[in-house]
Amino acid sequence: KNKKRQHLLEILKESARFFHYQLRQEQHKSALTYLTDRGLSLETIKQFGLGYASPQFNELYEYLKQKGYSDELLLESGLFLSSKNSQMPYDRFADRIIFPIFDLSKKVIAFGGRVLDGSLPKYLNSPENLLFNKSRVLYGLHLAKTSSSSYFILVEGYMDVIAMHQAGFNQTIASLGTAFTPGHAKLIKRHVKEVVILYDSDGAGQKAALRAIPILRNEGIKVKVLQLKEGKDPDEFLKTHGYEAMKKLIEEAPVDIWFQVLHVEKKYQLSNPEEKVKFLQEIATILAESSSSIEQAIYIGEICSKYQIDEAAFKAEMNQHQGQIL
Ligand code: GTP
Ligand code: MN
Ligand code: MN
Ligand code: MN
Ligand code: MN
Repeated sequence: KNKKRQHLLEILKESARFFHYQLRQEQHKSALTYLTDRGLSLETIKQFGLGYASPQFNELYEYLKQKGYSDELLLESGLFLSSKNSQMPYDRFADRIIFPIFDLSKKVIAFGGRVLDGSLPKYLNSPENLLFNKSRVLYGLHLAKTSSSSYFILVEGYMDVIAMHQAGFNQTIASLGTAFTPGHAKLIKRHVKEVVILYDSDGAGQKAALRAIPILRNEGIKVKVLQLKEGKDPDEFLKTHGYEAMKKLIEEAPVDIWFQVLHVEKKYQLSNPEEKVKFLQEIATILAESSSSIEQAIYIGEICSKYQIDEAAFKAEMNQHQGQIL
């Protein structure tokens, strides 16, 4: 099994080199142009080992076959699909920009692939196998782990991680096309005690942030949430506003509790007394579930002052939602 693992790692490394080489070929200039048009420098492309899988559907297969790997092993690598119609396994990632996914020791363990046009699916990932377990991998962690930052920045996508690193935020990571899991939080906790969530500003991004908050908090990680305005993700934001603007927003990012409270606030008409009561009940629950009582004491003060609530009444409400408080 260990030998198989070793062979799979070799295959992925060979493939990553192959894809990267393809990207630099004159006949695939449009792929390189796609990346440079999106603002990536050649240095960044090299740093992340980006590549291109040509549209020729069995090129990689033949390349690896000639190196002596068996069909069984090649199929297990996740790079190929077998088809009844074609004699040979064919390349899963044909005609896509390739994003190698690295483990902590900088070994390639999987790939992501993006189309160059508007076709669907936009991204494809390697299937899970002996090497690749999505809920245990964070894209960019092999670089972020050496950052001197005391916190990580958690984004949604490949291009967000890459754009953030290129801009200078080398503490940026992403969970890829999968929900954020407790496994991810445990992985993060080995490196930092604080995370700034910086997901896309759309509804999906906000929902994902609300789900990630308790998962991180359960690991004892302090959480802040930065919400960009106007339908953007970090990659797009950096392009229009740049490093300094992003840095300022990160430094000012509100703690998770405030993100949750503001989210709940949107659901209610606070000028209506009945709705205000419901609002207070809901945020009392959120606060009661948040970990430290010292934090609770701070936020109770802030919330009661912002929404003009009697603190004693609010604490009584919170008491109904938890056994022990203050
Ligand atoms: P760009 O258009 O390249 O900037 O991608 P994006 O990262 O902004 O894409 P989006 O916000 O739609 O998605 C965030 C992340 O989710 C992507 O980086 C992918 O990792 C993942 N993702 C998006 N679309 C798909 C898909 O169709 N299939 C899979 N498996 N993952 C996807
Ligand atoms: Mn999408
Ligand atoms: Mn999105
Ligand atoms: Mn994007
Ligand atoms: Mn996005």
